[in-house]
Order: sequence, then C-alpha cells, then structure tokens
Amino acid sequence: MSHWQKLRNPERVKVAVKLRLDRLRVVMALPRHGTGAEVGVWRGDFSALLLRLNRPKRLFLVDPWAHSGEHQRAMYGRRAQPVMDEIYESVLERFARHDQVVVRRETSADAIANLSRLDWAYIDGDHTYEAVKADLEAYGKLVRPGGVMAGDDYAGNAWWSGGVRQAVDEYGARIGRPAKIFGNQFLFRL
Ligand SMILES: C[S@@+](CC[C@H](N)C(=O)[O-])C[C@H]1O[C@@H](n2cnc3c(N)ncnc32)[C@H](O)[C@@H]1O
Repeated sequence: MSHWQKLRNPERVKVAVKLRLDRLRVVMALPRHGTGAEVGVWRGDFSALLLRLNRPKRLFLVDPWAHSGEHQRAMYGRRAQPVMDEIYESVLERFARHDQVVVRRETSADAIANLSRLDWAYIDGDHTYEAVKADLEAYGKLVRPGGVMAGDDYAGNAWWSGGVRQAVDEYGARIGRPAKIFGNQFLFRL
C-alpha cells in the first residue's frame, strides 16, 4: 500500500498524527541548547527535527549502520550492507553543514567512550530487551543529573516482543522513578 493510500484511511491518519504528537512532546521536554545524543539514527529524519526544535550546541548521532543477520525483521536486518553504507553516506551529507553534529558510526556500547557528558539522550537503537537495558544503564550514567533520557517504541510489540517496555519498566523500578509515557515514547528525568 502506498503512502497516499494509507493516508486515505482516517484511522491510520489519526495514529500517524498521534505518533508524531507524542514525539513532539518528548522533543519539547529535552533541555535546549545543550549536548544530546540520538542512539539509532537511520536516515536522520528525527535528528533533523531535534536540530531544528531543540537547537543543541552539540548533537551526537550514534548508529553502526550495519546489516544485522540476527535481527532479520528489523529495518536494518532487511537491508544489505551496501544499502546501509548508502544510508550512512546520506546522513553524512545531510548534516555536513551543521558543525554541531558529530556522527559516530559505531554501536551505542562502543560509542560511549567517545561521547562527552550529556544533557539528554534519546534511545532508539537495538530494540531487544538486553540492548535497551544496556543502553539505559550506560547512557543513564552519561546524562547529567537533572537531564533527560527518553526513547521510542515503548508500547510497540513488533519483532522485539515487548523488550523495550520490559527494560524501561525495570530501569524505572531500579532508579525508583517510573518513566513518563507518551504513547510510544518514554521519558526519564534523571
Ligand atoms: C528505529 S531506527 C532509528 C530511527 C530514528 N531514531 C528515527 O526516529 O528516525 C533504529 C536504528 O538503530 C540502529 N542500531 C541498531 N543496532 C544499534 C546499536 N547497537 N547501537 C546503535 N544503533 C543501533 C539501526 O542501524 C537503525 O538505524
């Protein structure tokens, strides 16, 4: 079904608008003019929105752009490596004029050592329970007290089988503060 055909279905339009509004609420809750990291970038569409609305003084974009044989149903499992390379190149080109953007082509775990203290992090990389749990622990330490850690697909239950929700709920229980949930988005004020 084409994008335009999908938009003829009012129910789908409602869901699409709601998804975007939820994300917008998260963007508006991130500290502005600071240092942030988006973990899991894909083509950089959300990064562009973050740049425009959050106006960070530094924005780290972290993604390995690597084909995954393990997660074949993920968007990065369905694309061969040459396609992932093209997507990476397009992201470099897209943000080339923005000096505040630092693209790190590596996994979230590897990138940690190369990032500075953060005012916020947005977690949207590997959606498996183990990976989200590891990202929350690692990026939760990098975000300054009073900063924000948020992320996507809390309510989603696709190939990752509810792993995001489980990891987010457990992290909230561990730090003694449950996440705020906006539809599919989660947000911790640290
Ligand atoms: C859902 S997409 C990100 C979408 C993007 N945040 C947006 O809203 O436009 C997931 C991305 O996570 C990346 N990814 C997969 N494993 C990762 C990892 N271990 N660390 C960081 N990113 C990862 C994939 O390459 C893919 O680009």
